[in-house]
Amino acid sequence: MPTIYHRISDLRSALASSRCKLDKPKRIALVPTMGNLHEGHLELVSIAKQQADIVVVSVFVNPTQFGIGEDFDSYPRTLDEDVSKLTTVHADHVFAPSIDEMYPVLPPPTLVLAGAITDQLCGQSRPRHFDGVGIVVSKLFNIVQPDVAVFGQKDYQQLAIIKQLVRDLSYPIEIIRAPIVRATDGLALSSRNQYLTGTERKIAPLLHQELQQLAKQLSGTYDNDKLNMLISNSRQRLTDAGFVVDYLEVKTAQLESITDNGSNLSSESANAIILVAAKLGQARLLDNEPFTFK
Ligand code: PAF
Repeated sequence: MPTIYHRISDLRSALASSRCKLDKPKRIALVPTMGNLHEGHLELVSIAKQQADIVVVSVFVNPTQFGIGEDFDSYPRTLDEDVSKLTTVHADHVFAPSIDEMYPVLPPPTLVLAGAITDQLCGQSRPRHFDGVGIVVSKLFNIVQPDVAVFGQKDYQQLAIIKQLVRDLSYPIEIIRAPIVRATDGLALSSRNQYLTGTERKIAPLLHQELQQLAKQLSGTYDNDKLNMLISNSRQRLTDAGFVVDYLEVKTAQLESITDNGSNLSSESANAIILVAAKLGQARLLDNEPFTFK
């Protein structure tokens, strides 16, 4: 069973003593989460185990990344179940701080802003969301000082922002991107899937099916008219099925926009990605699908 820490100082001392006790330098991995763990999170921990000797999983529902009217209060908090699940994948430490422990002053006057990359996709409908992610992830990096940290590809924009954070703030941390874990019907696993009613849960896999079909139709030579037409048809099908589409967009793998004539699709950025966020009932679902323009 992992050891649970609620205080920054206790986790730091434990990590310091593990670091000293070890005869040769050992790698520490961090898996940041907001808890309510599912198979996708456990896969992140398994990947972390392959990369490091000690795995720390943080469980913290971070208030600074939720906007007014979002689900901060109702976000499921299930620490006991989370710890049991983490035991099965041999996590070493769980860091579950209180809000006061993480934020002596809330909102924190110190900001970590990611700039232009947040002006698109999820950043447009959740304006301060990535500022909150930036500060909490920076704090976790400073508290744990991991050699490696693992994040899921489902939150593709978040992952890009974290890579930028590591580059710009010179964190000596390797960021590992973990593939999306899906239910057998293709729905990307997410803690928010539990907001779906039985009927909505049956509709939800359509989101990934649309992305797969789009990726197949778009692979090949870039054609702007075709791209716009396919996206608009796909959006309509999702709307007809009951989704409220927040965005459905095609970007380069680096999240640059694909210009009208596709001129920024240089040979190294021909890898593209379709990204979607859509509400189905109370659940806001995210997904993405990479593909290649030849
Ligand atoms: O992806 C998440 O669960 C959260 O955004 C993270 C990275 C744990 C920060 O609170």
